Amino acid sequence: MASLVALVTPLAERLRTATRVTVLTGAGVSAASGVPTFRGANGLWKQHRPESLATAEAFARDPALVWEWYAWRRSTIAACRPNRAHEVIAAWGRRYADFTLITQNVDGLHEAAGTRHVVRMHGSLWELQCWNRCAVAPARWEDRRADFVELPPRCPHCHGLVRPGVVWFGESLDPEVLRQCDAALDCDLFLTIGTSSVVYPAASLAPEAKRRGAYTVEINPDTTPASATLDLAIQAPAEAALDAVDRSARIS
Ligand code: APR
Repeated sequence: MASLVALVTPLAERLRTATRVTVLTGAGVSAASGVPTFRGANGLWKQHRPESLATAEAFARDPALVWEWYAWRRSTIAACRPNRAHEVIAAWGRRYADFTLITQNVDGLHEAAGTRHVVRMHGSLWELQCWNRCAVAPARWEDRRADFVELPPRCPHCHGLVRPGVVWFGESLDPEVLRQCDAALDCDLFLTIGTSSVVYPAASLAPEAKRRGAYTVEINPDTTPASATLDLAIQAPAEAALDAVDRSARIS
């Protein structure tokens, strides 16, 4: 197998000349931090697939079960720290004036690494919304508790249920988020990192960036539906590949 340095060389060369850089990340970018991915070997929680828990229907049917899953994810992620992949992406954000990070992740680790201007496609695990959309509660608010005394938690205003501030399957994405994603597709270099590329609309971004003329790169230890369609597929873990790219950029 080619060495990692050889695998990342074409990307390092593009990074040298690019001025507009866009990165899309998925759960794999946080795997080295200890955050479980959704569709990997440890993707199931108590035998439930994410598609059967992360829906408004599942919440309406059994809010306690859905909240048990989110409470477990909150306490798992609260103990996790950004890894080398998050750090290199944050450094790109400082290096390129025209840089956008779009993430499907709700864990907050890109923000913890200091990445500026994160476009959160799927919301945040650390925000809550009133399930009843009561008139008093804000549309969403930050709540960083990892342990809840009462589960499911209650709206501090109407005392009805609250839900996590994330986008569930079947729900529409925020139009402003979609606008920012669309604007970021006009770039020189588009990277899709640590995502299985099966959930839309995120999975449509890399092909669309390529159609608009960007050089497109995937970083993932596994092949995905995107691998064969993009310009370069670096089959390696994000934390190792991005570390190698960063070192290569510094010695050249
Ligand atoms: N580096 C890079 N990629 C990795 C690593 C790693 N160290 N470890 C695993 N991966 C890859 C896996 O091979 C897989 O392709 O990360 C990908 C994770 O895929 P998913 O678990 O499907 O996560 P993601 O693509 O982010 O899911 C999309 O689905 O459940 C919903 O809303 C949730 O945002 C999520 C969306």
